Amino acid sequence: MTAHRRAGRRRLPFRLDGFGGWADQEPMWRAASPALITAATERALSRPAGNWFVLGATRAVTAGRPFGRTVAGQEVVAWRGSGGELLAGPGACPHLGAPLCDGRVRSGRLICHWHGMPIDGRPIAGWAPYPTYDDGVLAWVRLDVVGGETPLDRPVLPPRPSPARAIEAVTETTGVCEPQDVLANRLDPWHGGWLHPYSFAALSVVEAPASDGSGPDRFVVDVSYRLPGRAMVVPTRAVFTAPDRRTVVMRVQDGEGAGSVVETHAVPVGVDDRGRPLTSVVEAVIAVSDRPGFAVGRLLAPALRPLVRRTAARLWRDDLAYAQRRWQLRQRGRLPG
Ligand code: FES
Ligand SMILES: [Fe+2]
Repeated sequence: MTAHRRAGRRRLPFRLDGFGGWADQEPMWRAASPALITAATERALSRPAGNWFVLGATRAVTAGRPFGRTVAGQEVVAWRGSGGELLAGPGACPHLGAPLCDGRVRSGRLICHWHGMPIDGRPIAGWAPYPTYDDGVLAWVRLDVVGGETPLDRPVLPPRPSPARAIEAVTETTGVCEPQDVLANRLDPWHGGWLHPYSFAALSVVEAPASDGSGPDRFVVDVSYRLPGRAMVVPTRAVFTAPDRRTVVMRVQDGEGAGSVVETHAVPVGVDDRGRPLTSVVEAVIAVSDRPGFAVGRLLAPALRPLVRRTAARLWRDDLAYAQRRWQLRQRGRLPG
């Protein structure tokens, strides 16, 4: 190919969408081996996370007010100290148990709204802080009481593009399932074109882990993302890996947005009032592009963020339904594979 033609293709990464109807796709069920998906999920579940759990988006923990979440059955409160640092600890006030997420933050101190106990992040009256980590996209907390692992100094973080040239958005949804069901959904790349025809076309899995676990533990997938209106698609090659027991990462290796990352973090919440497990899916999209318009896009990031979130939320409605179904089948002992 001449340099001129290469440059031409570079300016026009989108192709006309001529992939036909949903039922015309290549069936994937023979390739999507239940045993292979289960084995990949079990290998992921064996990897350490060092007791670190995602609390939420970095930008969701603001200076003005406390942020509350239940993680692995533990009520957690987080807030920003006077220097903007991430602080966190048990969410019940040590005095009479008030929900600290309903307190106020003044000059970096969390003040209980029942009787005014000020908490500055240091131990007080039996309350002690949890280790935290803010990676700039996600806020993390380390819960050694429930993690059951050897603690690590910081979360297992996959490589990400530089935030200076990226647009990031974080989506959160919760479903009735366990983290392993979310991982299993994400480690089944074959479902993309069938379950999400509004987003993906021409999907082919070009590499999957060997059934005995030898070789690279990753999935390599060629897929075209449909643009809104469905007239055009963006061809990409993506690589899926599971760096720890609660995370699956998709990295765009080739094509438009190469270097972009989608991290899916499956965070156990606790149980609902029927005793069923709840899992929160926190998905961080960190998108980059060397297209000329993207710098402008980055300046518009606050406007684009809800759009990215909406797209991810639609995917996750269907993926959560998959994960929840998998949990139900496991309960009945009827999960194939
Ligand atoms: S319950 Fe928090 S100060 Fe009394
Ligand atoms: Fe999916």
